Amino acid sequence: MRKELEVYIRARYPLLWIVTPEEERALGEIEKLAIDLRRRLTHWSVTSGETNPALPGRQDRALREPQAMLNAILDENDPGIWVLRDFHPFLKDIAVVRRLREVAFALQPSQKTILLLGPVLKIPPELEKEITVVDFALPSAGEIGKLLGEIERSAAQNELVTVDLNRRERDQLVRACQGLTSTEASNAIAKAMIEAGGRLDGGAIEAVAAEKRQIIRKSGLLEYYAGGDRLDDVGGLATLKEWLRKRVRAFSDSARAFGLPAPKGILLVGVQGCGKSLVAKSVANAWRLPLLRMDVGRLFDSLVGSSEENLRKAIQVAESVAPVVLWVDEIEKGFSGVESSRSSDAGTTARVFGSFITWLQEKQAPVFVIATANAVHHLPPELVRKGRFDEIFFVDLPDATERTDIWRIHLLKRSRNPDDFDLGSLAMASDGLSGAEIEQAIIAALYDAFDENRPLTMDDLLTVLNETIPLSRMMEEEIAGLRGWASQRARGASR
Ligand SMILES: Nc1ncnc2c1ncn2[C@@H]1O[C@H](COP(=O)(O)OP(=O)(O)O)[C@@H](O)[C@H]1O
Ligand SMILES: [Mg+2]
Repeated sequence: MRKELEVYIRARYPLLWIVTPEEERALGEIEKLAIDLRRRLTHWSVTSGETNPALPGRQDRALREPQAMLNAILDENDPGIWVLRDFHPFLKDIAVVRRLREVAFALQPSQKTILLLGPVLKIPPELEKEITVVDFALPSAGEIGKLLGEIERSAAQNELVTVDLNRRERDQLVRACQGLTSTEASNAIAKAMIEAGGRLDGGAIEAVAAEKRQIIRKSGLLEYYAGGDRLDDVGGLATLKEWLRKRVRAFSDSARAFGLPAPKGILLVGVQGCGKSLVAKSVANAWRLPLLRMDVGRLFDSLVGSSEENLRKAIQVAESVAPVVLWVDEIEKGFSGVESSRSSDAGTTARVFGSFITWLQEKQAPVFVIATANAVHHLPPELVRKGRFDEIFFVDLPDATERTDIWRIHLLKRSRNPDDFDLGSLAMASDGLSGAEIEQAIIAALYDAFDENRPLTMDDLLTVLNETIPLSRMMEEEIAGLRGWASQRARGASR
């Protein structure tokens, strides 16, 4: 953050907003920067008014009133940086908003900068043009390493705690903490230590990882997904699987050394029930990376927080645990309102979508995005423009060979020997069915056999197939539309 902030301050941006729950760490960074820039630093909060961090204890309580503080900044002649802590509640007052706007104009030609520091981002529309948001990144591996060092040092002085970590375990513990704020990380480590009866050892790695899964889930938008799905369990889709297989080592140092860029991501568009989500879940396992699932539906859920802030947080967390696979399921559901956004939600959807695609295109961190979509008429055209994804794959209904594959996989999954069945006939009889429907047919037939206390037979399966009306028959038009769309823009996932 320090670099970015320095650039803005030097370029005389008058109003900067730093969003972070980590006030202490942010204040520390700001202080270092103020020293580098030789700017006087002033803090403000509603409880203490104006304080000077260099002279603790001295405070001007007369300036607790937000308007009074803003006036004092205006009157000041010398260059300086003012950090207004938790100022956001006062932005509900139109007079404060107006005053802040006037101050912003007045400050532009000066060397005075106001930093709004707080845990939430809620910019009133009147100030959108005046305020620049600066990201305060989550602690890096290096910073977490330092934090762990402090914990180790204080443990050394305290006979109640023993630290027993070898180098490898220490690195793993640092990695487990990535994605957390420093307070969250030290709390998670402390908790693990207490639970282990005052020991900090290899056991803390899993304890901290579990704590992190909790914290990430609570943030509302992201979820760690731990499933056992494997690419071998995906029938057909040979071209797509081959593309993914070729990139197994894509995030390794050797790939960088070879001159390869890290893959950005792919979009899977296609018929419902044909394995898009299944592939997304399997990639992370195949590549041995963690999988984060992003719920785009909740992005706009006002109960979770402001949409802009939700997206920033999700991106920050994903980047801090990278390399990682970020799965955005049914992306069209989140961003379907982009076109109508101006009239329906004052542009929020369009703005959030804009930041999302900018990130897709420009991200440097090794976050592999795998997005899926079942429908295209709501898909914003900007999403599929060149440069967003490495590739757009179209996932169609399986052909006969692919269906044979899917029958084999799912019979095996239900502990049946595929050789006992005539897979060719099953594939023929299941024309027009998706992988999900084939799986359902097997389950229905198993129930029939179970009910009659006998082994599963070909007849059970064929009877169920006879009674099944494929979804694709009811959705002929939609599927034709999908195929038409894909023929122009996407690559076939099947060979
Ligand atoms: N190609 C396939 N190979 C094996 N199983 C499949 C395939 N397609 C679908 N399935 C089965 O159907 C389930 C639902 O498919 P899913 O991946 O959710 O479809 P989509 O996301 O394309 O709508 C999968 O979990 C899997 O059990
Ligand atoms: Mg799906």
